[in-house]
Amino acid sequence: MKMTLSVIKADIGSIGGHIAPSHALLESVRARVKQQGEGLLVDHRVTHTGDDIAILMTHRCGAGDARIHKLAWDAFVAGTAVAREQGLYGAGQDLLKDAFSGNVKGMGPAVAEIEMDERPSEPVLFFAADKTDPGAFNLPLYLAFADPMSTPGLLLSPAMSQGFRFTIMDVNHTEGDRVITLEAPQQLYEIAALLRDPERYVVESVHSRATGEQAAAVATSRLHNIAGKYTGKDDPVMLVRTQMNFPATGEVLAPFAIGHFVAGGMRGSHNMPLMPVPQNTGTSYFDGPPLVSCAALSVHGGRLTELLDCFAHPFWDEVRHRVAAKAMDMRAQGFVGAAMLPMSELEYTGITRLMEVLDGRFQVRREKTAG
Ligand code: 13P
Ligand code: 13P
Ligand code: MG
Ligand code: MG
Repeated sequence: MKMTLSVIKADIGSIGGHIAPSHALLESVRARVKQQGEGLLVDHRVTHTGDDIAILMTHRCGAGDARIHKLAWDAFVAGTAVAREQGLYGAGQDLLKDAFSGNVKGMGPAVAEIEMDERPSEPVLFFAADKTDPGAFNLPLYLAFADPMSTPGLLLSPAMSQGFRFTIMDVNHTEGDRVITLEAPQQLYEIAALLRDPERYVVESVHSRATGEQAAAVATSRLHNIAGKYTGKDDPVMLVRTQMNFPATGEVLAPFAIGHFVAGGMRGSHNMPLMPVPQNTGTSYFDGPPLVSCAALSVHGGRLTELLDCFAHPFWDEVRHRVAAKAMDMRAQGFVGAAMLPMSELEYTGITRLMEVLDGRFQVRREKTAG
């Protein structure tokens, strides 16, 4: 019987701004998942990255199951009550609808799920990012699954050298899921042409071409498309199965050493470098820099081992130093050019109104006519 790994995350309130949830809030979510998950879940873990709480679950109900989604929704609703009691900032921030209706997709929380035939050993990486959006995973996924300069397994492993299938979503399309499927390496340039625009085209999943197995799942929600206004960044989660017919764990982690610039940080409106951090880290400098954490675990019979903290390793200290320097360099240019997101991506309407007012005050200068 197939096993499903689901991660559902939401920001339901934070101490001192958008830094991190309180212990009481985390405990209330844990308690609710434990109680309501009895008999439904095989196993689960509750963690946070920045101000986002993630519920990682294994079960036999398949992807998109209403009971699993309701469990997460109910746990976030219960947590929101605690966030309100404690006066946390942004209590219930990501719960954009009043009542649960079958699936948390389109309701605010982010979801990534993989239904699988569990391998005898099932190594998995669970990524959670804060102060950024799902497009932050475009570059790392491209490098890990399509670029032999980054992933030698694409040359060395017979299964991997058959390539991977990328399913890419147009997240600007609000009337339904608009997706395209492209194959690497044959359609590498087409994949690159889309992934260069991470605010619009986002990798939703990656499958092995050799076996058809799903390797990766990314949460692709766009909160401002749901709420019609800024409600917080679409802080994403991602699941990646590793080893055997998939990239090795280290091949999936390596691209995060770049600390590439992503949309996010301060009011969801700035380009900042993505910093790999230990799990359960809050944000700081300029409501950022955007954070990504990664837990490595093995799944066996649906049971989860302890979570190993991939970015707690000393190697990533050097990466963090470089990312901090990049972040400060970008901040030195304030609101100008590449530092702030383009108008279409700005998360506040104030500047749009200001531009309208200013637009009306522009005058076209008349050229003096000769003679
Ligand atoms: P295995 O050959 O044991 O799968 O290990 C490959 C690997 O992870 C090398 O990085
Ligand atoms: P979150 O989406 O993580 O709540 O961040 C909101 C923000 O704008 C911080 O500056
Ligand atoms: Mg927040
Ligand atoms: Mg957040």
